[in-house]
Amino acid sequence: MVSRVIPVDVFDLVVFGGTGDLARRKIIPALYRRFRAGQMIEGSRVIGSARSDFDTESYRAFVAEAIDEFIADHASETVAAFLKSVHFVKLDATGKEGWADLAKLMRKDVVQAFYFSVAPSLFGALAERLESHKIATADSRIVVEKPFGRDLASAKELNATLEAHFDEHQIYRIDHYLGKETVQNLMAVRFGNVLFEPLWNALFVDHVQITVAETVGVGGRGAYYDRSGAMRDMVQNHLMQLLCLIAMEPPARFEPDAVRDEKLKVIRALDPVRHDQIVRGQYKADGEQQGYLEDVEHPDSLTESFIALKVHVSNWRWKGTPFYLRTGKRLKARMSEIVVAFKPTPHSIFDEEAGSKTNVLTIRLQPNEGINLRVTIKEPGPGGMRLVDVPLDMTFADALGPVAREIPDAYERLIMDVIRGNQTLFMRGDEVEAAWAWTDPIIESWTSRGSRPHPYDPGTTGPEDSLMLLHRDGRRWREIEDYGTD
Ligand code: BG6
Repeated sequence: MVSRVIPVDVFDLVVFGGTGDLARRKIIPALYRRFRAGQMIEGSRVIGSARSDFDTESYRAFVAEAIDEFIADHASETVAAFLKSVHFVKLDATGKEGWADLAKLMRKDVVQAFYFSVAPSLFGALAERLESHKIATADSRIVVEKPFGRDLASAKELNATLEAHFDEHQIYRIDHYLGKETVQNLMAVRFGNVLFEPLWNALFVDHVQITVAETVGVGGRGAYYDRSGAMRDMVQNHLMQLLCLIAMEPPARFEPDAVRDEKLKVIRALDPVRHDQIVRGQYKADGEQQGYLEDVEHPDSLTESFIALKVHVSNWRWKGTPFYLRTGKRLKARMSEIVVAFKPTPHSIFDEEAGSKTNVLTIRLQPNEGINLRVTIKEPGPGGMRLVDVPLDMTFADALGPVAREIPDAYERLIMDVIRGNQTLFMRGDEVEAAWAWTDPIIESWTSRGSRPHPYDPGTTGPEDSLMLLHRDGRRWREIEDYGTD
């Protein structure tokens, strides 16, 4: 199988915050890979911009270093060719410096995109100056990152700030989970097969589990993380998107607003979550590594590094089927998966001794992406009819060969979609606001009660109480286990 690369139109991409961490770790390596693959064609330019004392020459050296650090196999001729497309403009987001230079450099006859890889407090200043210096056109795109607000009020404010200068069709709000190949695959599995959709509802689905487990701690991001916690950092956005893709109605077409309309309906159908349906945790220290409280240098912190919650989607399709979500840091393994557990057969024709089994569909998102369907068969051999479960297991890497091993990073896909003008995998303003409208009361409820996260041992599945969340309902989480590497 050969992957097809369709080159995108010639573009000028300005990266505000071009010397920052996201640019270095994600944006530059993604652009380089797309250049190497032939998707970013000659004539396109990457224009780094920041207040730092760089010029085009020293910025090219910075870009070369980033490629060196984050891309294992790079040929020096390709890097040299890529660097020719890299430029730098020193600019003050809130002042006057540099804007005339940027205006002079930009071309009006190519696709223009502006990546706001800066603190949200600068969005307004950047948007306003792009307009007042007549740099942006009616077709320019702007790209913004999460966190998109920290509650409904701040998200509304950010939307209003951006919408004062740009139309919604020009605003690309990134949730990098939507750029993951396997997350897109969720839609292919659901809507490209006739097999699952008829069963995809409360009549046949007992419950759904969504797990995003990480082994890393909060690393060097303690200050940001402690103001956010797992709910704001992961659930309001990434897990919410996964939930939407699993729960939404089939859109009429795979088109931006058709898909986003359906996701929005799911978010709006979410019930409020009672506090006894939520378990929060904080990782403890172990022999080698510090605990959460030391990592964030805040001994009294009440912020969670783990959360598990039971969620209901109150609509015709899902009434009565719980969705259990959990995510946390410093857990036993890095793995993200979605489990769709089906109900038992309506009537068993076999004796009680045969045992009764249920079908379970597991979609592994990372690492080692694949699908596993647990089916019931007869245990081979004599001794009567006894039922056993066997996995029908498909790892994409085995099924598809090398193509599956060359899965592009989410940022590669998303940046190319910005240039193509395709918003399907980006969050619309109303979607983000609806997600905060659901999240806010949940956070307020634990804040007002002063609730304290349960400490948990690193390398485990999180606090014991999160197991209880399912045990109480006669269910259990799937084990968090190591699937191998990416
Ligand atoms: C980010 C969060 O959005 O996603 C991080 O801020 C988290 O805390 C990361 O570690 C997880 O992303 P991935 O792609 O490694 O699953």
